[in-house]
Amino acid sequence: MTNLSTYETFIDVCRTRLTSRAFDPAQEIPREHFDLILEAARHGPSGANAQPWHYIIVTDAAKKKSLADYFVAEATARAKSKMKFPTPNYRGLETAPGLIVVVADFRYINAFPVLNDDSDLDKMYKENAMRILLQSVAASTMSAHLAASALGYGVWWVTAIGQEAAQNSLKPLFGVPDDLSVIDIMAFGAPLKAPYKRWKKSLDEIRSWDSFNMDVYVDQAGIEKWIKEDRHKVMYRDESKID
Ligand SMILES: Cc1cc2nc3c(=O)[nH]c(=O)nc-3n(C[C@H](O)[C@H](O)[C@H](O)COP(=O)(O)O)c2cc1C
Repeated sequence: MTNLSTYETFIDVCRTRLTSRAFDPAQEIPREHFDLILEAARHGPSGANAQPWHYIIVTDAAKKKSLADYFVAEATARAKSKMKFPTPNYRGLETAPGLIVVVADFRYINAFPVLNDDSDLDKMYKENAMRILLQSVAASTMSAHLAASALGYGVWWVTAIGQEAAQNSLKPLFGVPDDLSVIDIMAFGAPLKAPYKRWKKSLDEIRSWDSFNMDVYVDQAGIEKWIKEDRHKVMYRDESKID
């Protein structure tokens, strides 16, 4: 049985989920909206059904400022390095009316197939278990982003970069227990500027039937070229304005 009208509604939400990096500070997010958004996160799939996630809704203005301060400082330090990654302005986190800290529980990697005997085989299983865990948290977080988008909000997915430093700065701020990790921040609200659609690969570029379509395979040099020549455009430009 197919239900195209439900699909149309769903795909519209997928297409119009747009990243914004500054939101109207005057807008108040009703408490129920946080519940509607996290209700979607709750139903995410996860390896071993471990559900290794927790979401902290941030309403305290001082905490939002400290969070933004951390990200601005980290981005400033990064800009001075030789990384050459086009960094956005993280000040928008301070005034985002919707702000949720995404917490991951990496202890659940033991819930996935691991040997725990420090052997080489165990290493391989552990790496895989880490991937299962990251994918699980992302699957849940993505549902939250789509739910926020369905409610009409602009969304912003921010990675808690700087593992140890990020953990040391952010965990005490939000009372996160030592053995858990802040993995991402989700910000949302009414965009301050009109959001725009970023470049997306075409269906032909991302899809093969039965075996990988080598016509769309990108070799290492192609990746390097894309990073050098295209990345900055696709991150911060409307796809209709890319030459
Ligand atoms: C796993 C993940 C990590 C991201 N990390 C950041 C981030 O740290 N900072 C940021 O400004 N945007 C971040 N983004 C947002 C992306 O830049 C954005 O999704 C991308 O440019 C495509 O735009 P769109 O979301 O409007 O489709 C992240 C997105 C994902 C899925």
